[in-house]
Amino acid sequence: TYVIAQPCIDVVDRACVEECPVDCIYEGKRALYIHPDECVDCGACEPVCPVEAIYYEDDVPSEWGEFTRDNEEFFTETLPGADEPLGSPGGAAKLGALGRDTPLVANWPHNGT
Ligand code: F3S
Ligand code: F3S
Repeated sequence: TYVIAQPCIDVVDRACVEECPVDCIYEGKRALYIHPDECVDCGACEPVCPVEAIYYEDDVPSEWGEFTRDNEEFFTETLPGADEPLGSPGGAAKLGALGRDTPLVANWPHNGT
């Protein structure tokens, strides 16, 4: 799978969403998250992100390594403000912005790196 890492936080450019052929990039509040089971590794999203937030899972820079698991937990954990895990909706567009983030992203310092 591909992973969206720290640079997306508070940028949320959304150029990646337009490129994804399987609509597996979901919008939280401060960042977006790639569904690890729905992503088909096409790689189309990676070059279009203006802040280089997207990496193949094996290439995530070490300082952002926790974002691989964090992208997954956006779907597998019950996030604050939700009643149940998101699971595998099979498409992000119909859901729109979900208005919530994982604790890692929600608690990331503003203007922090
Ligand atoms: Fe974020 Fe880059 Fe997509 S800033 S929304 S990962 S284009
Ligand atoms: Fe979509 Fe990017 Fe995966 S375009 S299929 S999220 S590699």
